[in-house]
Amino acid sequence: MRIDIISCVPSLLDSFFAHSILKRAQQGGFVEVAVHDIRDYSVNKHRTIDDYAFGGGAGMVLQIEPIARCIRQLQSERIYDEVIYLTPDGELMQQRMVNQLSLKGNLIMLCGHYKGVDQRVRDLFVTQEISIGDYVLSGGELAAAVLADAIIRLLPGVLNDETSALTDSFQDNLLAPPVYSRPADFEGSKVPEILMSGHEAKIDAWRYEQSIERTKARRPDLLKL
Ligand code: ADE
Repeated sequence: MRIDIISCVPSLLDSFFAHSILKRAQQGGFVEVAVHDIRDYSVNKHRTIDDYAFGGGAGMVLQIEPIARCIRQLQSERIYDEVIYLTPDGELMQQRMVNQLSLKGNLIMLCGHYKGVDQRVRDLFVTQEISIGDYVLSGGELAAAVLADAIIRLLPGVLNDETSALTDSFQDNLLAPPVYSRPADFEGSKVPEILMSGHEAKIDAWRYEQSIERTKARRPDLLKL
């Protein structure tokens, strides 16, 4: 998979992709991530990329020309499955959506800033609009990082234990059960006996029951889906 992220603050994303699982995923050849600075595609020597909104009002708008040039350049190099715009008025990000995106080959993620991008970018180039939650961030970079992280960890071979993404919260509309490690007794606070019984079937049943209880208590809406 290849993910191209278009941003006007590319340095915000650099350190995110340079660490941990995302770094390993790139080094292992499971994913290639490239971050592009919109300013490099500006049509003037001052490298401007934003302007006042027609009709007035506060806030600058990211102009169409630099973004169009960047997207067209990328599209001349390879075929993209989706051009995703991260925006608070997009479709709410869900695990189901992430699973589907993890099956794609090449993705472009466009990060907004200020008052957003010129509507014509969305009309002419964007194929999917995604929000990571009902709150407004100062830019789309964190949202792109969240989306890319959720996708990349699903790619086969990225996680050490191939099955571990399958037991995540949300994969079956259930929250994950509690987990414990050593010591078995921390200042009198003990690990549930069943987990140390070695009885695999009983442990699975206990975990499933815990998942249901946790989901009922915290996210009853998931059980209705
Ligand atoms: N840009 C600003 N806020 C956002 C959000 N909640 N989701 C996606 N992109 C955003």
